[in-house]
Amino acid sequence: MGKERCSLSFLFGMFCLLAVGQKDGVANIEEYVAQGKVLYAEHCLSCHQEDGGGAGNMNPPLIQTSYVLGDRATLIKVLLNGMSQEEIDGESYYNVMPSFSYLTDTDIAHVLTYVRNSFGNNASAITVEDVAEVRKEDDKR
Ligand code: HEC
Repeated sequence: MGKERCSLSFLFGMFCLLAVGQKDGVANIEEYVAQGKVLYAEHCLSCHQEDGGGAGNMNPPLIQTSYVLGDRATLIKVLLNGMSQEEIDGESYYNVMPSFSYLTDTDIAHVLTYVRNSFGNNASAITVEDVAEVRKEDDKR
């Protein structure tokens, strides 16, 4: 009996992996968002806060900003290279955004997909391939 159960759930698992909603080239966006939420709590929340609201003129919000909703490559570069002293939608912030280049391509894809689909944002997923491509281009410089 255990054996049937096992192969049934295996088949179901395969079905989920292969067949479920291919949004924006991502097999399972819910999985990206769930993983991204954990990563966000670990790496981002202390500065950008649980609701993505930021902290005054210290850390910017991640709600509907041109970086969060905009060009994927630009957004990925913010994580790979960090950021400081840039104006964000007309505002300045005095803290420094550290580089997260030590995270894997998968982790960066997960956390950015989470950010782009939380806090009232609704933008396309960032795929692992997107991150790999930007990292490769960046390394050439
Ligand atoms: C030490 C505090 C700190 C941490 C930790 C941090 N950030 Fe930031 N982040 C900043 C600051 C400060 C800026 C703005 C830098 C500037 O003004 O140039 C910023 C800018 C950004 C921006 C672009 C501007 C915007 O508001 O849209 C994004 C996107 C972003 N961070 C995402 C993240 C994500 C995702 C993580 C976690 C992986 C993270 N940050 C972790 C402080 C932080």
